[in-house]
Amino acid sequence: MKKLKSRHILGMAHLEPEEITFILDTAESLKEILQRPIKKVPPLRGRTIVHLFFEPSTRTKLSFELAAKRLSADTVSISKGTSSVVKGETLIDTAKNIEAMKPDIIVMRHSMTGAPHLLAKHIDSAVINAGDGINEHPSQALLDLFSVREHFGRIKGLNLTIVGDIAHSRVAHSDIMAFSKMGANVTVCGPATMMPPDIESLGCRTVFDLKEALKDADIVMALRIQKERQGMALFPSEREYAQVFGLNSSIFSLLKKDCVVMHPGPINRGVEMSPEVADSNRSIILDQVTNGVAVRMALFTLLLADSREE
Ligand code: NCD
Repeated sequence: MKKLKSRHILGMAHLEPEEITFILDTAESLKEILQRPIKKVPPLRGRTIVHLFFEPSTRTKLSFELAAKRLSADTVSISKGTSSVVKGETLIDTAKNIEAMKPDIIVMRHSMTGAPHLLAKHIDSAVINAGDGINEHPSQALLDLFSVREHFGRIKGLNLTIVGDIAHSRVAHSDIMAFSKMGANVTVCGPATMMPPDIESLGCRTVFDLKEALKDADIVMALRIQKERQGMALFPSEREYAQVFGLNSSIFSLLKKDCVVMHPGPINRGVEMSPEVADSNRSIILDQVTNGVAVRMALFTLLLADSREE
């Protein structure tokens, strides 16, 4: 494979398994650059990448920006508070004005589902979805796949259990599709109030009992409760949530010997995951963060590859 089929990266729903493998292989070859003392190579010199973040972000924004800089692209960042959106400009107008300055890629995070898809329809630059509402977060799913493949040497046949706020988590939606497309068995677990009734159609099974869901897992991924997206309280208290669905040291006796723990961040320590679990030698959470830069370098490289057909 020499190119991705689409000009944009909008969601795992649109990527085929061969394209996913192609992205992971590219990221693997680029990761070595991040270990060098001088972490910069020239392939995207003269290219411009705009980061449009309309929602808070630490990891994802920094990761995209570093990825662009490692490849020598020029980068510019705009956040909601400093954009003309606060003056009443529409998203499309903002995008068209940015486009008029000829960027090559726009990376966008937005609280509205479908915002990057809308952008992609109206502008010529490539668009990468860095998280749209509760819908998708494809680059997170790709770095999760990368981290699992790096650790286990494969993805196919592994059992992934995702625990938490499945309904409001774009990471869960992208990961369910990503891991099931690559042949893993995905189980989701969480309070019934945070479980969409049709979630199994994305390629997973639902188990409400945490002990049952953790049995046989090779990977356990905890998710943050997305309080900012919930219209009302979906569980009695954080303490009760932590008691029923929180991952604490009592789960260690239930897990397979080589089971690893993941989290997309930011962690609410003591709610979905206790410090003993987050900082244990089973945790690959910080590897996920490191790998995020390599995966995003791969996305930029592949979207701007000269061999890609228009
Ligand atoms: C997630 C997000 O913003 O969707 N974080 C991330 O990008 N690493 C998860 C979250 O906010 O809980």
